[in-house]
Amino acid sequence: MADINALIGQMTLEEKAALCTGASAWTTTPVERLGIPPMLVSDGPHGVRRVPDIHSIGAQSLPATCFPSASGLASTWNVDLIHEVGQALGEECLALNVDVLLGPGNNMKRTPLCGRNFEYFSEDPFLSGELAASLIDGIQSKGVGTSLKHYAANNQEYQRFMMSAEVDERTLREIYLPAFETAVKKGKPWTVMCAYNKLNGTHCSEHRELLTDILKNEWGFEGLVVSDWGAVHDRAAALKAGLDWQMPGPSERDVRAVVQAVRSGNLDEAVLNESVRRILNIVFKARETPKGGEFDVEAHDALARHAAAESITLLKNAGILPLVDPQHIAVIGQAARKAHFQGGGSSHINPTQVAVPFTELQQLAGNAELTYTEGYPADDSSRPELIEEAVKLAQDADVALLYIALPSFKESEGYDRPDLELTEQQVGLIKAVTKVQPKTVVILNNGAPVDMRAWLEQTAAVLEAWMMGQAGGGAIADVLFGKVNPSGRLAETFPYKLSDTPAYTNYPGGNGTVSYGEGLFIGYRYYNARELPVQFPFGYGLSYTTFEYSNPQVSAQNFKDVDGLTVSVDVTNTGNVAGKEVVQVYVRDQKSRLIRPPKELKGFAKIELGPGETKTVTIPLDFRSFAYYDPAYKRWVTEDGDFDILIGSSSADIRCTETVTLESSLHLPSILNIESTIRDWLDDPKGKVAFGPIYEKMREQMNSSMGSSDTIGMDMTGFMMEMPPLSILQFQQKSWDSSPHEIMEGLLQQVHRQ
Ligand code: BGC
Repeated sequence: MADINALIGQMTLEEKAALCTGASAWTTTPVERLGIPPMLVSDGPHGVRRVPDIHSIGAQSLPATCFPSASGLASTWNVDLIHEVGQALGEECLALNVDVLLGPGNNMKRTPLCGRNFEYFSEDPFLSGELAASLIDGIQSKGVGTSLKHYAANNQEYQRFMMSAEVDERTLREIYLPAFETAVKKGKPWTVMCAYNKLNGTHCSEHRELLTDILKNEWGFEGLVVSDWGAVHDRAAALKAGLDWQMPGPSERDVRAVVQAVRSGNLDEAVLNESVRRILNIVFKARETPKGGEFDVEAHDALARHAAAESITLLKNAGILPLVDPQHIAVIGQAARKAHFQGGGSSHINPTQVAVPFTELQQLAGNAELTYTEGYPADDSSRPELIEEAVKLAQDADVALLYIALPSFKESEGYDRPDLELTEQQVGLIKAVTKVQPKTVVILNNGAPVDMRAWLEQTAAVLEAWMMGQAGGGAIADVLFGKVNPSGRLAETFPYKLSDTPAYTNYPGGNGTVSYGEGLFIGYRYYNARELPVQFPFGYGLSYTTFEYSNPQVSAQNFKDVDGLTVSVDVTNTGNVAGKEVVQVYVRDQKSRLIRPPKELKGFAKIELGPGETKTVTIPLDFRSFAYYDPAYKRWVTEDGDFDILIGSSSADIRCTETVTLESSLHLPSILNIESTIRDWLDDPKGKVAFGPIYEKMREQMNSSMGSSDTIGMDMTGFMMEMPPLSILQFQQKSWDSSPHEIMEGLLQQVHRQ
């Protein structure tokens, strides 16, 4: 390792400023005279998009394996498999001379309209954090870096360059930051990429609280912060906020601005040195692993097929799957011939090969006759003759397989989805085919939920195959014919309709701001709280077998938050085929000072079971499983009380509930103040002791001074509860020896005394 401090000592101000801005679309600025090499980054995250010309952003990239995108990977709920995919990505980076892969994306799915949701894992921060950490660790285990993105609150593509996400502190801490926090603490990414948007009025690239206070100081992030491409507006301000490396480059103007800022005293050179130190650390770390060689194209393609098969989520199956010995299969839909396996934008991979779904079917279909028709065009035009043709094919067959891909004008990076619908032609096609062929299976390729109300009922089965990666065509065939028992589980809720979704009345915002008014309540937190029915709940997915849960256990009925707790349950495969189950643990706080979602995912495990086999699954819980972020204390807090531990097969299919009692280890100072209400005083243990006697006297006085329930027609106790003691004392001045303010000062001193 180079002596970084010595190097910084030898660098000129100009060299330092230049290092903090890229030299090209993909590289850092080298300093040849000091032996500082360039470092090369490349887009991802579900493949390596290595563009050979470092000055081109969008040119054709070198061939690399395209794995399923994040919505698919997340549906596996399989941290080990995701780790393996990460290792393969790392190997491809080495072969393609890439030092840092720009991913994973780890933003929350706030609205299903976000065009880029296919690149994100989940609506749940716990699940996203665990999966991202595993992917990062897999990639970095090969000596290649990652860039966790887009930090933070980049939850829509609409006006993503300038929109300000208006998010309250608690929502930020509980929903929009924890996935990053877990990924940073557990995965230790070499780099973090800041988002384009503003957060509460400040560009993320200039957001000191985000980049320095929280990321670097609080979470202990030691790597470098890179801007999203073109996210820097004021270079010196961004440096001060903690944005180390600006991309893309070169940008003479920004380099000059930094030099001038230091010379004029507007930017402390120590701040610049700190960014230089962080960048050099990563540049030299990247040098430690030699690049070059080749990757195993076939092995990675096989892994991509395995990952795609495990991400496929069986949403409906009216007894038709797996297919048994069909004689004549009508294969309908463009996507059967031309696989739709990835999304548009910076994650677009040039695949090493692509499995054609139709060909893959043929290989597993034995002697069955397969016929094909395209069913719908690539655009949104109406083509009735294609539907007629499909109907003819379907009615003559034993079964119809409809391959439906959501076109890129309905879903991509860079713009949001206009709606949740398939195209009119696709909906018309499904309806017409299901009318003549009851055994119709719909296979979907999309990165986010679609509205199925118009056609779901009539289908025999639905497979959500996601943006499945280059080998997905084979994976679909594997699942249809039962070579693979589907084990995907939804990492996001499929709502019935757009107007049911949590952000519906706040999205997309206007005049430069979007209010996150739904607060903590996104995804299943919202649907649960509102008791809204959904098409398919979070955590849901069918299998060709069945699982039974029994013998739930908790390691202790009463426990201290610091001790943690383990939860275990026996799961038995009660069907005839081997299969995988995802055991999910949710926690419900029975009572809390601040409102909490009805339940939150705090643990999960994926297990494989042969027919008849039973395994015990043990899942650890910790302080954070029970805590919530309380802005009054500016920290995560636990409260004494009872919590339900819900063990289930999905968020809507809870199989066992255990109740435990937590004793908090926190001794929090009282937050009572002059404006606190009587209810606050009585709810606070110290407040109750100090204020109790005064409260009694107040109540007595209340009747004489204010009237009673009888004379004024209201419940006086209820009325008093919402008033600060000071206000009541002011009504009752004559009855007290001291002035209202003196009484309150005395009380406050008493409760704040340590
Ligand atoms: C995207 C990033 C990407 C970068 C470089 C940006 O537009 O938001 O995710 O890594 O471009 O292509």
